[in-house]
Amino acid sequence: SKAMLPGTSTEFWTYNSLVPGPLIDVFEGDTVRIRLENRLSQQTTVHWHGLPVPPAQDGNPMDPIAPGASRTYEFTLPVGSAGTYWYHPHPHEMTAEQVFRGMAGLLIVRSRTDPIPTAIEEKLLVISDLRLAADGTIPPNTPMDWQTGREGNYVLVNGQYQPVLTIKPGQSQRWRVLNATNARYLRLALTGHTLTLIGTDGGLLGSPVPGLDEILLAPAERVEVIVTANLSSAASAVLRSLPYDRGGMGMMGSASTTIPLLTLNYTSAATAAIALPGALNSIADLGVPTTTKRLVFSSGMGMGGMGGGMMSFLIDGKSFDPSRVDLTSRVNEIEQWTIENRSSMDHPFHLHGTQFQVVSRTRGGVTVAEPFLAWRDTVNVAALETVVFKVVQRQLGRRMYHCHILEHESQGMMGVLEVVA
Ligand code: C2O
Ligand code: CU
Ligand code: CU
Repeated sequence: SKAMLPGTSTEFWTYNSLVPGPLIDVFEGDTVRIRLENRLSQQTTVHWHGLPVPPAQDGNPMDPIAPGASRTYEFTLPVGSAGTYWYHPHPHEMTAEQVFRGMAGLLIVRSRTDPIPTAIEEKLLVISDLRLAADGTIPPNTPMDWQTGREGNYVLVNGQYQPVLTIKPGQSQRWRVLNATNARYLRLALTGHTLTLIGTDGGLLGSPVPGLDEILLAPAERVEVIVTANLSSAASAVLRSLPYDRGGMGMMGSASTTIPLLTLNYTSAATAAIALPGALNSIADLGVPTTTKRLVFSSGMGMGGMGGGMMSFLIDGKSFDPSRVDLTSRVNEIEQWTIENRSSMDHPFHLHGTQFQVVSRTRGGVTVAEPFLAWRDTVNVAALETVVFKVVQRQLGRRMYHCHILEHESQGMMGVLEVVA
């Protein structure tokens, strides 16, 4: 990979001194016990993004671990939960900073009956964003970052800047990709290749979706894709993030720039292609909803006077209050949620504790049905778009929902859902 600022050194905040944090690689049915010792100078939690863990084990902002304190998280991963997840801090108001200083890691739950042939080599790509000042330090957020969401000046893959991966001519690889950035939208495309989508946040699709020129990965989303080396030996390709306009102010950088993420170099020795099964997973439709919920995303100028106020980011006109319950759901009830974005920038919506099924997306009066069933815990709601999904919560207790632009989450674009009997 390329060097960033030779001769400087950078202080990160980390899990186990690693950026990204250590891979947690487990099987369905496993009971996981993880001890966190907080050696930061501020409170933290660990949140298991996308996993159906009990609320008390999910690192909610209401359950902080003080500096110098420690705790053990424990949960059992149910059969059916195989997928690509991640973990990151979730303390009240400080998530954004703890993540941009280095705290996030991948958590894979594997199935013992995974249908993808094991001969298909797996690669894990944790994409994160790093901003370095000229002296190598990680600067704090600017007022503009707090509005638009922070983007860095280096996009890293597994903590490296523009690394080189290899593939054999003819080979298929399974890439699990995580967008662990605070706010950057990744419009992924691999030069000279199409991608076959096989999985989303919560696991495999019913069947592969081949021939994609690009895949949009909003902050916190994951995908599993198959990359097939259809060029000849010594060829080379670049995984890039194409320009994406997510609205708001001052977003000229990522709205207009193509960013190389990694180089994929072909080796000389070819290998035989391995066919994918036609059926990957049986995803049952969640069924007919018996209740509905509606949330509205908005933004506006807050108090401040003379145009000097900060933008506020709200859900249903409210800012997060850890002691307030905003919504109530009945356990095991099939719900339909409608998320309406009335602001002029995109916001990725995330709900804790379960996976949902997107039903439709409406923009400019045009409704598009979701083309296939998929398990997601995060969905982008573009500026002035409305997204409908179905969801069931299976455990009692309090769950968070929020925008996953972490600057927005940390400033209160978040609510509390209480799941009751
Ligand atoms: Cu990825 Cu509430 O978080
Ligand atoms: Cu989460
Ligand atoms: Cu947002």
